Amino acid sequence: MSEKINALKAEISAATAKTQEELEGYRLKFISRKSVLGELFADMKNVAPEDRKAYGQAVNEVKQQAEEKFKELIAGLESSDAGSKSSAPIDLTLPPNVNLGTVHPLTYIHNRIVEIFQKIGFNVADGPEIEDDFHNFTALNFPENHPAREMQDTFFIESNPDIALRTHTSSVQIRVMENQKPPFRTLAPGRVFRNEAISARAHCFFHQVEGFFVDKNVGLVDLKQTLYYFAKELFGQDTKVRFRPSYFPFTEPSAEMDISCNICKGKGCNICKYSGWVEILGSGMIDPNVLENCGIDSEEYTGFAFGMGIERIAMLKFQVNDLRLYSENDVRFLNQFKHLS
Ligand code: PHE
Repeated sequence: MSEKINALKAEISAATAKTQEELEGYRLKFISRKSVLGELFADMKNVAPEDRKAYGQAVNEVKQQAEEKFKELIAGLESSDAGSKSSAPIDLTLPPNVNLGTVHPLTYIHNRIVEIFQKIGFNVADGPEIEDDFHNFTALNFPENHPAREMQDTFFIESNPDIALRTHTSSVQIRVMENQKPPFRTLAPGRVFRNEAISARAHCFFHQVEGFFVDKNVGLVDLKQTLYYFAKELFGQDTKVRFRPSYFPFTEPSAEMDISCNICKGKGCNICKYSGWVEILGSGMIDPNVLENCGIDSEEYTGFAFGMGIERIAMLKFQVNDLRLYSENDVRFLNQFKHLS
């Protein structure tokens, strides 16, 4: 028996580990539960009772020796690793090789719009992207089976026609009006979804910022002044603005707002289709039915609302001619917006 132990001691003291694999080999052989030492301990029961004490001490000594050696081998490996690393030359004159991300143009425009409206007291609200029919349509005065629902091609959930991906963030306005008391000055930015064929000019998802203002005595003049202010802040003080009558079920009267083409300054170019004007948003006085649907007295309160697509505004601002670029994550495109960061 003592021969076996002496042989083991010799083997342990001669062990080396130049690689992680060799170290692991050592660990398996001498340290792990299934190691030779484990076997020696298991043999204890075959030793005559009067010899057991001496046997136990001898095996424990080997165990200690094995563990100390293991620590030595680990330390040896670590220092040789560190040695090889520190011997690699470091050129301190090289510029740092970090490729930082940039602000996405849509994030930039979103932040700008929010900032401009926050200056005049608007706050920001959030709502779910998966909506029910009531918040996306019915409360917004879209009559059931009315063709106005077709204005926005909708993704419905097959098993439940009451649930859809929101087609606009007007749904958030309903949620805010339902749950809080007027007055309101609120923006609702977010992602919206429409079942459209993907092309340079349309996508099945895009981003909107909608906003609404409800208080006593709010009139069309407030709507116009607010949106004038916004257009000039975003596109420059020399921007001209015009309103064209339009139709939305939830506003009456409704208007679309154009700005003088910021690219050709109104002279005519292919962005504005040589008209000198580009449309940037829809707006109108909130239909009294919508206020009543949210439990707000439409005799006491009036309001206006507006909504715009962030992609479209960013297209005009940065002259992007294909909507798909925004969501393809091509760094050649994204790197062009480095100056915004
Ligand atoms: N919700 C409309 C849309 O998505 C935009 C809009 C909002 C128009 C508010 C008028 C008033 O097209």
